[in-house]
Amino acid sequence: MTTSPDGEHDSHDIVAPGPQSPRSELAVAALLVAAAVSAIAFIVVYSLEKFSTQHELLGITLAASFAFVAAALLLFGERVLPSEEVAEDYPEAAAPMEQEEVAKVMEESTSGITRKRLLVGAGGTAGGAIGLAALTPALSMGPWIDVAPLYRTPWRPGRRLVDDKGKPYKAEEIEQETFYTAFPEGSSDRNLGASLVVVRVDPAALRLPPERAGWAPEGILAFSKICPHAACTVAIYQKPTYGPTQPGPALVCPCHYSTFDPAKGGEVLFGPAGRPLPQLPLTVDAGREIRAGGNFSDAIGPSWWGIEMEEPH
Ligand code: FES
Repeated sequence: MTTSPDGEHDSHDIVAPGPQSPRSELAVAALLVAAAVSAIAFIVVYSLEKFSTQHELLGITLAASFAFVAAALLLFGERVLPSEEVAEDYPEAAAPMEQEEVAKVMEESTSGITRKRLLVGAGGTAGGAIGLAALTPALSMGPWIDVAPLYRTPWRPGRRLVDDKGKPYKAEEIEQETFYTAFPEGSSDRNLGASLVVVRVDPAALRLPPERAGWAPEGILAFSKICPHAACTVAIYQKPTYGPTQPGPALVCPCHYSTFDPAKGGEVLFGPAGRPLPQLPLTVDAGREIRAGGNFSDAIGPSWWGIEMEEPH
């Protein structure tokens, strides 16, 4: 103890006991509880997903939680912890006596706090709730990291390929030596699996895997526009300027120059991509419009999404 029974400063104490302030301690505890409640509100808002202002509410609840913690710490430092300034000559070397004194200072610094358990409990509750709130978004990946949503795409058999204005592509519009960007009709172009790069090659040059026979009517091919290396957009179509000595046309990702051969079903010719560009089967209907014949040959996106864990569906 730092005070004698009559409340006087014990002559052996180093830190004079500060004025006890149970009200401030209660206020600190209340702020920490408020921080915990705000963090729990974040978890509830995130889990329910029912509010039109979902993002705003998530931001408000999390910000409130941190603000309450900050206010609690400020109040604790200002009103609850005693402050002590000790100025003395720097000792020559650490000696057991001085070390004991330092330990005593540390111990006595909290002697004025009357509700230590309450404060520790409130601090633990706030810390636990905020930690839980930080982990909650990870639960969206499912009980054991459900990667299935990453493999879903809006492409279905019969879905028309449209341009960025929603106009369906006709087979005649697809020319050689250039490329086109296409989207699934009626689907948001913000869907990662939506965007396609469409090219036409000489049908005689096609070297598709046997199971993809018929995926490129009239030499028209479609591939995911997302590079399987690190998800950049495949945005360059390289064509030979002197055919006899140069390789055929190729799709190129501008980020690290992964190069894909459309005639061979998106096979990697060069660069760091570890697998071919996923190909989408195509058909041309009676009205000459281009439609999807099914889903991609492979999961779209970079390989670190767990490409070998599940087939696309
Ligand atoms: S992201 Fe395409 S090559 Fe790296």
